[in-house]
Amino acid sequence: MDRDAQTSALADTDADTNTDADADAADIDIEARTDATAAALLDRLAALRATDLPVHGGRTMAYVYDAGLPGLDELAARAQEAVAGVNGLDMTAFPSVVTLENEVVARAADLLGGPPGTAGTFTSGGTESCLLAVLTAREHARRTRGVTAPEIVLPVTAHAAFHKAAHLFGLTPVTVPVGADFRVGPDDVAAALTPRTALVVASAPSYAHGVVDPVAAIAAVAAERGVLCHVDACIGGWYLGHLRLAQGLPEPPPFDLSVPGVTSLSVDLHKYGYTPKGASVLLFRDAELRRHGWFAHASWPGYPVVNATLQGTKPAGPLAAAWAVLSRIGTVGYVELSRRVHLAVRQLVDGIGEIDGLRVLGEPDASLVAVAADDPGVDPFVVADEMRLRGWYLQPQPAHGTSPANLHLTVTGAVADPARIGGLLAELADAVARAREVGPATVDPGLVELAAGLDPDALTPEEAALALAAAGVGPGGALPARMAPVLAVLQALPAPLTERLLPEVVSQLYSR
Ligand SMILES: Cc1ncc(COP(=O)(O)O)c(C=O)c1O
Repeated sequence: MDRDAQTSALADTDADTNTDADADAADIDIEARTDATAAALLDRLAALRATDLPVHGGRTMAYVYDAGLPGLDELAARAQEAVAGVNGLDMTAFPSVVTLENEVVARAADLLGGPPGTAGTFTSGGTESCLLAVLTAREHARRTRGVTAPEIVLPVTAHAAFHKAAHLFGLTPVTVPVGADFRVGPDDVAAALTPRTALVVASAPSYAHGVVDPVAAIAAVAAERGVLCHVDACIGGWYLGHLRLAQGLPEPPPFDLSVPGVTSLSVDLHKYGYTPKGASVLLFRDAELRRHGWFAHASWPGYPVVNATLQGTKPAGPLAAAWAVLSRIGTVGYVELSRRVHLAVRQLVDGIGEIDGLRVLGEPDASLVAVAADDPGVDPFVVADEMRLRGWYLQPQPAHGTSPANLHLTVTGAVADPARIGGLLAELADAVARAREVGPATVDPGLVELAAGLDPDALTPEEAALALAAAGVGPGGALPARMAPVLAVLQALPAPLTERLLPEVVSQLYSR
């Protein structure tokens, strides 16, 4: 194959079709994959990325966390490059990972009230931190209290990661409703505790509404019954921890390891630490508790294994990048970023209050704002579509229990500027006016009735495809430009049916 042909084949997703021909050739020149080839590949990556939401600029208000500071990406990329190939699986072979992890964990423990003896683990993200908190509690309950059919007490607002953990690790979730302020009540938590409870979870703050549960009261209730209490500060811990160091701003509610009864806490660095993705810290009150979640195995013919996380082979890149970014921004930088975000959230909340047809759900304690409609003529999902057309991504959150359909806005450093928030509010007012003209997305009542009679577990792939087509999702998983009608249908379906149908859509996307 000549070089040009090779370049285009590599840059083409259909390159695999060349594999057989190449395998027959005795003189494959793999060194000949030149800079030109690399450039073509990177061009293709750039073209693919152009179809994504932007990760900088502050207009994507979910999934991405942009400090808005120059040079961070470059620093993180160089840190990742410096440890490329390092395998954190074996800390004796690569002691650099021990030093980096100890320094990152120490930084988190110092910020978040860790008493002397606090131990921690660097994980790949919030979900892995939550999974490990649950696994640790399950093992702790089994070994120290003989609990064999463990339960986990979860406010209904707890992140889905805890349900995933319960599912994977065989715990029964016991969900507790929240009040009108979207915070769970300590008495309701107390009533949900049984001798089988392995863990109680509180959010600081919750993802959906951005409010902090009454951590001190919940931890006290748990401690009284000898039960562990985990604070999920994945999204808000780094922000709130630094906000309370800012002069002249209201103190956030107590939420960290300094609160008596809190036994573990998760905080994501790839959120308000503004580090590249794949970075979270799980803190435990001490190493004795932490050890219950570790896996050690020496009963096989290979190398002895000690895993603190779910991974085996473990990249050092996210750790090194997080370590570098944390040092580069520093405490002073994070305090200033938190101060800016706090002021931006106040401006946003006040501004939304002035937009006819919108209201903020609850009273956000942190940097997340949930915006619902207070006019039946305004459909939040239509507002999301309208904002998308204007270059903003606001995340639709379907109605659940006492929480109406709403839009989730994550405020990061990149958008935390009075002029930018002013611009966002102006476009939001415009989008609401347009949504009123368009009218709410409607759902065929016949479809809802039909769906109510379906047994999700018995649904064949063909029936699932029919149900999706009725919901407006075409074959091949193609999503329409306007998502409001699809979201309206999904919202109207029973959750178990949605849980059956959504993987079907995703499976169609990953069809080869
Ligand atoms: C409160 C909370 N917990 C856990 C998670 C899961 O984190 P990740 O997406 O990093 O796995 C999130 C993500 O937004 C979150 O907000």
